[in-house]
Amino acid sequence: MDFALTEEQRMIQEAAREFAENEIAPVAAHHDETRQPPLDLVRKLGELGFLGMNVPDAYGGAGLDMVSYILAVEEVSRACASTGIIMSVNNSLVCFPIETYGSEDQKQRYLPKLTKGEWLGAYALSEPGTGSDAANQKTVAVRDGDAYVLNGTKNFITNGGFADIFVVFAMTDTAKRVKGITAFIVEKTTPGFAVGKREKTLGIRASSTVEIVLTDCRVPVANMLGGEGGGFRVAMSTLDGGRIGVAAQAIGIARAAMEESIRYAKERQAFGQPIGQFQAIQWMLANMATEIDAARLLTLRAAATKDAGQRYTTEAAMAKLFASEVAMRAVKDAVQVHGGYGYLADFPAERHYRDAKITEIYEGTSEVQRLVIAQGLLKE
Ligand code: CAA
Repeated sequence: MDFALTEEQRMIQEAAREFAENEIAPVAAHHDETRQPPLDLVRKLGELGFLGMNVPDAYGGAGLDMVSYILAVEEVSRACASTGIIMSVNNSLVCFPIETYGSEDQKQRYLPKLTKGEWLGAYALSEPGTGSDAANQKTVAVRDGDAYVLNGTKNFITNGGFADIFVVFAMTDTAKRVKGITAFIVEKTTPGFAVGKREKTLGIRASSTVEIVLTDCRVPVANMLGGEGGGFRVAMSTLDGGRIGVAAQAIGIARAAMEESIRYAKERQAFGQPIGQFQAIQWMLANMATEIDAARLLTLRAAATKDAGQRYTTEAAMAKLFASEVAMRAVKDAVQVHGGYGYLADFPAERHYRDAKITEIYEGTSEVQRLVIAQGLLKE
């Protein structure tokens, strides 16, 4: 077993860190406060190759492995969790299914734009009444000549306010439940496609979480992804990779919280010495460091399993479950280390506290991750 990164992985990590520290971190609080997505920075991420990291060079991607990708997501999320999820959705939830299940024509049409950040993508699975029970889709797609006519409402769609294309899931045969779900690539300019209300979220405020309304939205048959009735497999296998990305995002947030805590513990004086001299503070820092390392190792294992071409459903679920819970503990302790100042928006600990929570919810709640892990155990 080798725990060392390759030279290339270290270079990608370094490049992501440099960009995140120099360009993203200085404006993260501003974007959080104004809820404005940092689209100029996202486009730059595209120019640097961070928006289609695992897509082969032939389609405009960086052709890198999953390990490199999650290292980059951690660095970006450490600076700004909103930018981290914008990047992760584009890579994991949009480029991946198009590259894996798309026709040659779909790959040629969409991947070069998505990988460069000329277009951005979103993933539309959830509905107002359909979250964890993802197979319970109410959006319908009815075949009409050379198109499917989509009707329904999607919600909690990350990137939805600015995305150009959407991977949308709909029922083509309601009688068949999971086998009756089909995926489509829907362009935002398609008549009948509308972006609805933008949600006011607790954290990741500079991301865009919206409702999507489909009203007699005619999507060409050529935009079906993964075949009729193959949508649930597309959805689940895509989320497997997405969950590794969210785990990396959680680690980035936790690391930022820990680093802020260490800095503060060295500066803040109480009872005549820096508070870092007190065991109460030291134990919190030690727990953060240990748990973050453990979460990163689980996440790297999930990524390496994917890179090895093996099934990684369980590994991804374990990584996301653990990393998101580690992030929650780290941000809670970070606020505590900062005392009253941790409760103020003037210090980044407050933003990390709000940002961490979503990692326990989206791309499958912690309860869903436990379900997936248990199902894997019981199948063996
Ligand atoms: N890969 C490939 N196929 C898979 C799969 C996977 N990981 N998981 C399940 N399948 C297949 C199964 O093999 C099965 O097919 P067969 O019948 O041919 O064997 C079929 O799918 C049905 O599987 P299940 O019986 O396990 O399905 P279920 O209805 O019981 O669902 C679940 C299980 C794990 C709870 C699933 O519904 C789930 O993951 N729910 C959570 C949904 C989720 O994560 N939503 C997040 C929304 S997206 C988001 O948050 C993105 C964002 O904007 C940031």
